[in-house]
Amino acid sequence: MKKVIVAIDGPAGSGKSTTAKLLAKRLGYIYIDTGAMYRAITLYSLRNNLLSEPPRICDGARNIKLTISIIEGENKVFINDEDVSDQIRSKEVNDNVSFISTLECVRKELVNKQRVLAENGGVVMEGRDIGTVVFPNAEVKIFLTASLEKRAERRFQEFKSLGRDIPIADVIKNLRDRDITDSTRKNSPLKKAEDAFEVDNSELSIEQQVQQIRDIILKKIGTIVNE
Ligand code: DC
Repeated sequence: MKKVIVAIDGPAGSGKSTTAKLLAKRLGYIYIDTGAMYRAITLYSLRNNLLSEPPRICDGARNIKLTISIIEGENKVFINDEDVSDQIRSKEVNDNVSFISTLECVRKELVNKQRVLAENGGVVMEGRDIGTVVFPNAEVKIFLTASLEKRAERRFQEFKSLGRDIPIADVIKNLRDRDITDSTRKNSPLKKAEDAFEVDNSELSIEQQVQQIRDIILKKIGTIVNE
């Protein structure tokens, strides 16, 4: 059976990771979180004080060994063999990742890596430009959205469950700032691909939205394995 590419794009906090992970499991596919790759380059840049030196960030993006391993369905991210999966979720990384992802050279390196990771199909890949730039011919494209308030509430709860008390106002500000930077940047801005299906999950449970997307996939490729 042909293994296709499912591209899921959408703004921060729209539930892409949860949805992509569940879908990948249901389809028997690999799940890839491309935001984690931009976060890894951001962490590397912060650690090496490179924020004001984009050419050196580019050298880093070209030369560091950036690995994504899929362990029990989760993405683990390694920089030069160091597991940085937790560090890439820090507030500092959150605050700087949108800037790093505006850099054309960084995008070029990461898009190449993403294409190699999915060259055999059978992948659910989530990000901002998967259906528009990375895989414009992906068989299934989903654009996930939700209101800013809902997205902020979800992120707030997520932080809380990790023991991090971040004021809701800060979470809203970070999401709003990232929405603006991500959708207005010159290189590969966040936007819905013309042939993507838009799913607004503001009022949907996770099960409901996975079901909706499953129905879309079923219509597009005619089958779902692992059910
Ligand atoms: O999905 P996330 O919040 O972990 O993504 C972090 C940032 O990375 C996001 O603000 C924009 C950037 N990003 C991107 O530019 N392109 C992608 N394909 C994925 C993420």
